Amino acid sequence: MSAEFDLVIRNAQVATASDTFTSDIGVVGGRIVQMGVRLSTGAREIDARGRTTTPGGIDAHCHLDQPIAPPAKMTDDFETGTRSAACGGTTTVIPFAAQQKGGSLRAAIDDYHERANGRASIDYGFHLIVTDPTPEIMATELPALIAEGYSSFKIYMTYDDMKLNDGQILRLLALARTHGAMAMIHAENTECIAWLTESLLESGLSAPRYHVASRPMLVEREATHRAISLAELVDVSMLLVHVSGREAVEQIQWARARGLKILSETCPQYLLLTAEDLGIDDGYEGAKCVCSPPPRDAASQQAIWAALADGTFTVFSSDHAPFSFDDDQGKKPGGREVAFPYIPNGIPGIETRLPLLYSEGVLTGRISANRFVELTATNPAKTYGLHPRKGTIAIGSDADLVIWDERSVLLTNAMLHHAVDYTPYEGRTVGAWPAYTISRGEVVWDGERFLGTPGRGRFLQRGLPTMIARRPPPSGAAR
Ligand code: URP
Ligand code: ZN
Ligand code: ZN
Repeated sequence: MSAEFDLVIRNAQVATASDTFTSDIGVVGGRIVQMGVRLSTGAREIDARGRTTTPGGIDAHCHLDQPIAPPAKMTDDFETGTRSAACGGTTTVIPFAAQQKGGSLRAAIDDYHERANGRASIDYGFHLIVTDPTPEIMATELPALIAEGYSSFKIYMTYDDMKLNDGQILRLLALARTHGAMAMIHAENTECIAWLTESLLESGLSAPRYHVASRPMLVEREATHRAISLAELVDVSMLLVHVSGREAVEQIQWARARGLKILSETCPQYLLLTAEDLGIDDGYEGAKCVCSPPPRDAASQQAIWAALADGTFTVFSSDHAPFSFDDDQGKKPGGREVAFPYIPNGIPGIETRLPLLYSEGVLTGRISANRFVELTATNPAKTYGLHPRKGTIAIGSDADLVIWDERSVLLTNAMLHHAVDYTPYEGRTVGAWPAYTISRGEVVWDGERFLGTPGRGRFLQRGLPTMIARRPPPSGAAR
């Protein structure tokens, strides 16, 4: 007798964003087709008795093979990046197709498809990064791309080759409102950073740890408030990415209290690292933890944990930015130890994101398993137009699943599957790791081995965010 299902997961302790229950999960053709007790046989069966089973993670903020100015080059491409993601329980990634100034968005998308094609082992979508919002791009290209499934774009308030001014941001927010897209904002005040950087360098303070002094909380707080004000003027929702500390959290809570729908994201580095990880002396090791905004202090970590628990944060992403340490295309540009402004920004973490949060959040009781699912899968899916195909465990959804093994694991870079030569979490013990990662019904990680194949990952043409409503163009100056 042939099996009714391709795969049956038995006795799973299913956690969704809203419920926890025990169920078998029956999969056919990569989708969940039945849930209940005593399902009939599967061609393959996995016993998940006693194990929490969550939707596969969606990493809605990660950087893979993103073209950047030489000599820097990202160490992870779509092959190594998605492999690493899968081994840590992530089944969908949404990295960024970045517009080059003077170039078109379409060219960025075409180039990025070539980079992903045949390499990704899990499913993927693309956010856009808009760096040059010309009238033509605003009138035609961006609306067309939103309709084609690139329904979110990132706006930078800092970085010379990326930043937009307030007028450009207002126009993009108005466009997001009209077309129902999600605008993601990197909020740091670029002029404050430039002024502080200049005075630090003039004083001979150039070690990695001065990266923190060049981007204090104030510069993030001010830009967060300004971004919120711009969104209020346009009357549109938007998402603040990689929120690092208490003062930015306070701005988001202030906005919500005014009735504004401001969404927000944080990342593992703001829960688990502090400014001290960039160095307590002038040594260069701290370059490993140079990212923007930088990790703050213990009080900020507590504020970020509280905001994760109380619902302030919408999503939890890695902001994986893969630059190797001992690498002339990475943290040592041209093979040299350089002054902090020239260290490529970003921290690797695509594989460790879920185990760290499960371990430090769920197992410690700081957040429930349901909130874990909401932050790492369901809300990212709703925010970026993938729900309910992705981000939940339900009949009709893709069979993207993680079966958790609550065991002690010593984190070392040697056990990870990215191409980066370090992890900032080296030597830390986590209390859980995926026993299985299942992508559209296929086991891509079995607790010991990566079993995916490059090219099996599919491009996801995303719908509009279900977290926000599409609305008529705003009246007033920001049209
Ligand atoms: O330092 C960071 N966060 N690097 C990645 C790029 C970005 O701004 O997200
Ligand atoms: Zn950013
Ligand atoms: Zn980023």
